[in-house]
Amino acid sequence: MADLNLRPKFHITGDEGWINDPNGLIKFGGKYHVFYQSYPADTNWGPIIWGHSISDDLTHWEYLPHALYPDRKYDRDGCFSGSAIEFNGKLYLMYTGYSINGGGSNVRQVQCLAESSDGVSFKKLGVVISADDLPDGYSKADFRDPKVWRENGKFYALMAARVKHGRGRLLLYSSDDLLSWKFEFDVFGKDCDGIMLECPDYNPELGLLIYSEQFAPVEGSKHLNIHTTRFVVGKLDLEKKCFIQTGDSDICDYGFDFYAPQTFSGENIAIGWMDMWDRSHPSSQFGFSGMLTVPRRLSVKNGRMVQSPIVATGPAVEKSVKTNLVDKIKTGVISLRATELSALTLKMRCGGGYYTSLKLDGDEWIFDRSASGTEIRGHEKDLDSVHGLRRMPFIHKPTTELTVVFDKYSVEIFEDGRALTATIYPPDDADGLEFEVKADKCIYSRSEV
Ligand code: FRU
Repeated sequence: MADLNLRPKFHITGDEGWINDPNGLIKFGGKYHVFYQSYPADTNWGPIIWGHSISDDLTHWEYLPHALYPDRKYDRDGCFSGSAIEFNGKLYLMYTGYSINGGGSNVRQVQCLAESSDGVSFKKLGVVISADDLPDGYSKADFRDPKVWRENGKFYALMAARVKHGRGRLLLYSSDDLLSWKFEFDVFGKDCDGIMLECPDYNPELGLLIYSEQFAPVEGSKHLNIHTTRFVVGKLDLEKKCFIQTGDSDICDYGFDFYAPQTFSGENIAIGWMDMWDRSHPSSQFGFSGMLTVPRRLSVKNGRMVQSPIVATGPAVEKSVKTNLVDKIKTGVISLRATELSALTLKMRCGGGYYTSLKLDGDEWIFDRSASGTEIRGHEKDLDSVHGLRRMPFIHKPTTELTVVFDKYSVEIFEDGRALTATIYPPDDADGLEFEVKADKCIYSRSEV
């Protein structure tokens, strides 16, 4: 088993090796279950299994035996991403079976089902949507990541797909029993901007569609990460067979490391993969690669997705700050509540010449991880990425509330419902915190996990 001293304190990393997307998020049997894509044999991606962790409070996680292994003909090269739903007292996992089958046009991605009565051991029920159930013209090799939910007595599953000579699409299927599925419609009915879509998530209660996109084109300071995650506020119209946008569409996270988020079945809480494809993973020196974000509560306000972190902390210690403050924090949560904020510079995880900073600059926050610690190299070529920068909009308002969640290798920053997430690899003893503020009034609070 891994050396827990080298692991983040309250972020899921899996028990060994590599992890990517969160899968099968559900509250079942009184516990929160988070499964995740896992390859325990290496710190690089490999034939993927489903790891499993549970929690009472969404902050302290316990690892359970792995839930799904690639051991059938239809999933022999990987049990790809998927979701969970409870039905008749049982926990069902709907996931993508991946088989290479000789490569080329023989690669298959099919949707499979597994069930469990105790939420610990799973019995595979086989393929429920095969590549032959795709409408004509869609690739059988890119059809994955089912997100299942129940609405008006019917089950629905949304999947990422691709047209044969084109780009990513989202397809909706319906079912009465989780076993036999019917194709409903192609959600947008047109190609995405990037190459392929992945991990769609739809929350009918909020009217919120979230999906990840590979190689989306850069737009200003958005989609700088080589792969991005978007939200669109709107409804799947099951009668008109289309998606009707009723609010904003934007990136989910302004930071470096956020991909493939999923919401808990029937709840407005999401978790994402706190990492990125096509980057180096400095944590491999500690025996793991990949972490999941802390859970985020989602809502829609004035047509915009609003996120706030969920972390079970101890009591907060509060201080009023005039112009500056020096403190220490490596793991835990801080927040600043400032009235009429006009300037702020926050330096985090300072020590040995290293630091990570966030600065208010006019109408944007500028985050800088260029001096954070071990360098993280990615395929991105734009200047901000090369200089370790990310930007998030700032809209002046009477009161600004900024929250930062710290763990050993990450900072997750939230302000006005927006989020900026980044992994960082400073020396272990770099725990200094310094800030300078100009505001009519500023309250600083800090709590430990
Ligand atoms: C997204 C993804 C999914 C796929 C999984 C494989 O990060 O590429 O589309 O199911 O990872 O591990």
